[in-house]
Amino acid sequence: ASAEKGGFSSFMDKEIHDQPQAVGDTLLGRFDTEGKLSLDEMHIDENVLKSIDKIVVVACGTAAYAGQVAKYAIEHWCRIPVEVELAHEFRYRDPVVNEKTLIVAISQSGETMDTIMAVRHARQQGAKVIAICNTFGSTIPRESDAVLYTHAGPEIAVASTKAFLSQVVACYLLGLYLAQLRGNKFRDEIALILKELQTIPEKIQRILDEGKDQVLELARRNEDVGSVLFLGRHVGYPVAMEGALKLKELAYIHAEGFAAGELKHGPIALIDDGQLVIIVVPSKRGRDSLHAKVISNIQEVRARGANTVVIAEEGDEDVREFASEVIYVPETTTLMAPLLTTVPLQIFAMELATAKGLDVDQPRNLAKSVTVE
Ligand code: G6P
Repeated sequence: ASAEKGGFSSFMDKEIHDQPQAVGDTLLGRFDTEGKLSLDEMHIDENVLKSIDKIVVVACGTAAYAGQVAKYAIEHWCRIPVEVELAHEFRYRDPVVNEKTLIVAISQSGETMDTIMAVRHARQQGAKVIAICNTFGSTIPRESDAVLYTHAGPEIAVASTKAFLSQVVACYLLGLYLAQLRGNKFRDEIALILKELQTIPEKIQRILDEGKDQVLELARRNEDVGSVLFLGRHVGYPVAMEGALKLKELAYIHAEGFAAGELKHGPIALIDDGQLVIIVVPSKRGRDSLHAKVISNIQEVRARGANTVVIAEEGDEDVREFASEVIYVPETTTLMAPLLTTVPLQIFAMELATAKGLDVDQPRNLAKSVTVE
């Protein structure tokens, strides 16, 4: 087994380190000679993709958070409304879907029963389904109209890591492909986004090479923490929820991810002396005043005694004043940031669980793939 782990202490540790390759492989072979996206492998009629007026992502767990990240990107690039719904909720609420709806079913295993049932239900209503899946020939791709595989390689640890990043990448490719097809973005703009996407593997590698030790040390110091709050805005919001989920799954610690803007509407009441709050900060070069707003959120929780750990972009000095600790990740665009900011949160949860003596590959009560409803 230790050979399978490639010298790492757990499958999860190995899979976290597989991420540069998982992202790189998911990009591989999906461009034509001119560098344009080419997804002919999906074998889906282009006219169908041109005619859709709504996208609904259905998924469970970590895959659903990948969908939530993708919603921000796809709506921005394609101007098509995107809903993201937990598959088990979608299936049982009589959702409005028809021939003009594109369902995107995200699943690492392709065997999650809740997601399978959602796919079946959507197809009965006439919707087209594209699966984003990591397991070749599994049930969800077989029952869908088309499939876009993530190429993360087998994921063994129960808590999903490299599958998540690859799912975000695959959703981005799909979104950019739709934008390209529908002609509502200039070619050179799409080319620029794709170029940035191709720098991501190397940037993840830098986090692993240069940033990991700091996160390990931070996790060990917090071995006895009772609860952790995660805050983020925009794409940082689903990243915060994913960070919280990892901590629940692995370390059995109460953790919640909140939209930072929601703080004053409730969660701020939770803050008292020493409360650990992890904040995902957007790029300074990004959208409007989001960066400044998150800084003021850090300031608000800090003023109430929180222990503030900040995930920010290299070179962002503004965060220092109110941060107990800053973890820097390489610069990228707003929409690509989740592919980097998620990584320290994965390492944090893994190491905290390890420090508590827990089995990070096989957390209690969980299954890698839930094949019952
Ligand atoms: C289980 C796993 C999660 C996973 C979810 C969805 O709950 O423990 O890690 O995110 O299923 O799995 P899927 O294979 O559909 O992506």
